[in-house]
Amino acid sequence: MNKAAKFWDKMSERYSKQAVADEESYQKKLEITRKYFRPEMEVMEFGCGTGSTAIVHAPFVKHYIASDFSPNMIEKGRRKAALESIDNISFQCSTLEGIGVADESLDVILGMSILHLLENKEQAIDSVCKMLKPGGVFISSTACIGDMGVLFKMMMGLMKLGTMPLVKSFTSEQLVESLIAAGFRIDYQWTPGKNKGVFIVAKKEEPI
Ligand SMILES: C[S@@+](CC[C@H](N)C(=O)[O-])C[C@H]1O[C@@H](n2cnc3c(N)ncnc32)[C@H](O)[C@@H]1O
Repeated sequence: MNKAAKFWDKMSERYSKQAVADEESYQKKLEITRKYFRPEMEVMEFGCGTGSTAIVHAPFVKHYIASDFSPNMIEKGRRKAALESIDNISFQCSTLEGIGVADESLDVILGMSILHLLENKEQAIDSVCKMLKPGGVFISSTACIGDMGVLFKMMMGLMKLGTMPLVKSFTSEQLVESLIAAGFRIDYQWTPGKNKGVFIVAKKEEPI
């Protein structure tokens, strides 16, 4: 396990007990996401944490892959899903690159609070684009540190020094540029407030 995976593995207990920071925005994101779901769909979420979002969404689709590189996060997700009798989630302990789904096989991919934690977001966005069917949808929520105020950036810097293994800084505009460069068009974009992450629904362009 690398340093980052060890960090998140240790965090899993605290993370699973932590209340959602902004419940109203979270509910709105769930609601918007669900508008893109159909009962026959194959969905995948990477960096799923303890599976809270997967468990809420899975009943609305055919099959849901929930992946995370932290074994403890995945174990907690499996337990929570079993407790709630949700049986269409395949939990997988993996990085995005290791998931091993066929190209153009997924209808929707979710990446919630994860893109800013990756070494190379462009590579991740390219992989996501490959895995999606044409017209498929990538839904993400991302802390764009480049958009945040100086004080907030300093706080993040200190946090990173003391605890976080990796947090990349970019703006929401740069994130949108990366999505478009990979072959997406933006279907929906929303920032719930100052210093909040950007929520984006990006559609993979279909060949004309
Ligand atoms: C901030 S948490 C977000 C969890 C969940 N998506 C949510 O919104 O509550 C980030 C999660 O991404 C996972 N993660 C971080 N880097 C990863 C990577 N390179 N590959 C797979 N998972 C990763 C961590 O283990 C952690 O569970």
